Amino acid sequence: MKHLFANWKMYLDYTQSIALAGNLVKESFDREKVSVAVFPNTLAFAEVRDALNGSPVALGAQNVNWTPLGAYTGATSAHLFKQAGAAYALVGHSERRYIFGETNEAVRKKVEACFDAGLVPVLCIGETAEDLEQDKREYRLKKQMMKVFDGLQMRAEDKIFIAYEPVWAISRGGEGKPCTPADCDDVLGWIRSELKQYTDKNAPILYGGTVTMANVVSYITLETCDGVLVGSASTKLESFMSLIHEAEKLSG
Ligand code: PGA
Repeated sequence: MKHLFANWKMYLDYTQSIALAGNLVKESFDREKVSVAVFPNTLAFAEVRDALNGSPVALGAQNVNWTPLGAYTGATSAHLFKQAGAAYALVGHSERRYIFGETNEAVRKKVEACFDAGLVPVLCIGETAEDLEQDKREYRLKKQMMKVFDGLQMRAEDKIFIAYEPVWAISRGGEGKPCTPADCDDVLGWIRSELKQYTDKNAPILYGGTVTMANVVSYITLETCDGVLVGSASTKLESFMSLIHEAEKLSG
């Protein structure tokens, strides 16, 4: 089973988000072969959920606040997203880290809040172009994982996903040059072995960064890769459905 998670970021407006969900629900795929989730804009979340009613597509939050309720102007908590029907939440996406200044400490609190609320966090980690130039990829990834996992209490029912998204590989905002499948394979394998020191849970590990119809197969055929987190290419019905069908074919 491969996972195909769609991060719609702020690419689609309110109307477009609902329209894409409405078109998605008319398409079919085998939920036994591919697990699909969309992460819409918060404003459109409830309408996208309603439009997807009856479809196997799950829902996720793009970002969560850690306190369930309280005086947090402009924030939406993991608890609120759970109530509204989310199953997953992206945590520590590089756009949150580098544009909105989210720290590793905040990322840790958000992961804990997801567990408390009953959401599955998709912890995003990745080095910048500068890290890579300075040979600091492992340093950056180790730090991002250590700050979240060191001493983290996970109950039997808590699940977590990791998304390796090199910042330089992201289609807009990054350089839009995807990580080569061979490089990706090495890093995902390394992440899996690093994780063993923190948890005996088998966390699915996704790759993200300029995944398109043309290259998706080269990632999801990797044994180290449990699926992909896709931005740009998931915001159009045709490309999103071809990604889903490619994943489906491979599992079949
Ligand atoms: P991209 O975005 O597929 O447009 O590169 C991926 C992400 O940032 O999650």
